[in-house]
Amino acid sequence: MATSDTLYAQIADSLATSIRSGALRRGERMPSVRRVARERNVSLATATQAYRALEDARLVEARPRSGYFVAARPSPIAEPQASRPPLAAQVVDRSTLAAQVLRLAEDPGVISFGAACPSAELFDADRLRRAVTRTALRQRHALARYVHPPGHDDARRAVARHALRLGCTLDPQRLLLTNGCLESIALCLRAVTQPGDVVALESPTYFGFLEILEQLQLKALEIPTDPRHGLSVDALQLALDTQPVKAVVVVPTLSNPLGATMPLAERRRLAQLAAARGLPVIEDAIYHDFAGDDERRRAVRSFDATGHVMLCSSFSKTVAPGLRLGWVDAGRWHARVQRLKATTSGGQSSIVELAVAELLSQPGLEAGLRTLRQRVAQCVDEARELIAASFPAGTSATDPSGGFILWVELPEQVDSMRLYEACLDERIVVAPGMLFSASERYRHCIRLGVGGAWDAAAQRALRRVGEIATDLAQRAAGAPRAPAFHLGMLP
Ligand SMILES: Cc1ncc(COP(=O)(O)O)c(C=O)c1O
Repeated sequence: MATSDTLYAQIADSLATSIRSGALRRGERMPSVRRVARERNVSLATATQAYRALEDARLVEARPRSGYFVAARPSPIAEPQASRPPLAAQVVDRSTLAAQVLRLAEDPGVISFGAACPSAELFDADRLRRAVTRTALRQRHALARYVHPPGHDDARRAVARHALRLGCTLDPQRLLLTNGCLESIALCLRAVTQPGDVVALESPTYFGFLEILEQLQLKALEIPTDPRHGLSVDALQLALDTQPVKAVVVVPTLSNPLGATMPLAERRRLAQLAAARGLPVIEDAIYHDFAGDDERRRAVRSFDATGHVMLCSSFSKTVAPGLRLGWVDAGRWHARVQRLKATTSGGQSSIVELAVAELLSQPGLEAGLRTLRQRVAQCVDEARELIAASFPAGTSATDPSGGFILWVELPEQVDSMRLYEACLDERIVVAPGMLFSASERYRHCIRLGVGGAWDAAAQRALRRVGEIATDLAQRAAGAPRAPAFHLGMLP
């Protein structure tokens, strides 16, 4: 039997279908909330909820005292629209595509825009090597000693000091060091969910999260996002009212793949929501150091007074990609997460932990991060110009306030899997959009990591991606449209 939880989604789905099919045209007045309630035999609250979901999906607009209207045609601006994920939770079904994209990113024979990490040339390899060597010499017995979680005290103190940049005063005793941010996230999810549970996350989202959800047999509830401001807390609130969400995973600063950054007020609201609902919020702060100012770096956790925000991060993107050191302060679930870590992967090498601690305490750290930010910002600017010049008409691209990831929405008829394959034939790798959703929603999108070596070959390769996409767009324009790929989502 359908519950009221799903009723609103069903109504929103059927109205969305009418809009997308053209039965309800842009600018046209929608049936009133009362009429929908009467005709569908539901309460006014359920009909209102359906409209709110359509509003969040930017399919309708509310006009004061006039009701709801089909949203106006989006203007041909450079940035993508807010996301419109399906309204119901999806069973996650990831293919081996993500693994292939990541493997190819390491292949020296290809030019890769597939990875979300600055390339090795942007790091001072000698400085990293010296830190590891010095630590190994200083800690003469470290390699002969067995290690257990939560990690070396000195390293945890260094991480706690670093977290001050996020506006957080963390107790080093409650910090757990891990094998990377993804391990931190997986441990947090395992601590607060059971197979079959629903987890809310941004749409589009980082495919690593979807893979964890798949492995833990969790369902993904994708929440609409704005390309600049990230997760819609309003939409999340609505989802919490109607669906049994057990945890939220969020990347508030420079999310992956949108590069969106949540406004401070929204971070505060999210922390308040977590406290009010007793909801675990798993915050991924991996890109915070790519934000140049304290405000954008400030974590949701800094607003959390009740321990509901589990803060995860690592130094994989900023300090030492190859050392793989992550950390988590799991708030009220700290003890559970620590037990899970002990039985999953034990501890990391103290040499790694202490080398990162040394790198974090070096006076050149801030200057190094600033240089990294500037270098990737320049790549992003040039890549955006190149996209504007060589991608098909109708393409939009994000304009992130930092980091090195671009989300590109191609004209709808361009199938990014075909683009991926055609590019691969020319030894170029892009990340196809369908990787970033459990519902295969973003089939006409690609993610480009442009923090690599931004040389003439890379620029030529990106121009070539645009040419191939233009060719695909032109060929698809006349041809009958391929059926949309969908797994029980809106058509
Ligand atoms: C948002 C986000 N979180 C986590 C990770 C993985 O972090 P780590 O390599 O530290 O496990 C990535 C890597 O792309 C990411 O984009």
